[in-house]
Amino acid sequence: MPVATLTLLPLGDTVPVAPGQSLLEAALAAGIELPRSCRNGTCRACRCQMLSGAVRYRTEWPGLSLDEREAGEILPCVALPATEADAVVIAVPQARRRPT
Ligand code: FES
Repeated sequence: MPVATLTLLPLGDTVPVAPGQSLLEAALAAGIELPRSCRNGTCRACRCQMLSGAVRYRTEWPGLSLDEREAGEILPCVALPATEADAVVIAVPQARRRPT
């Protein structure tokens, strides 16, 4: 069964994204910390660049302008892979593996 994935650059980790899971939730579940605050698409603390793939949003109006969306910026706290087989690649220089 195909599984959506999230790859974080420059870290290089690829993690699975479960159906209904946001990109942020998938990263956190895999032990990767990303910048975040509100987790509901309003504060923009998680804003980052999508390098490939496609996303859809949980909220009707995530806090991105049309220009930002067209430039490939996303809000991973409310962004889900567009399909259950999408491979989304994002650039998050601040991403860190949680110490074990
Ligand atoms: S954490 Fe606030 S917009 Fe994503």
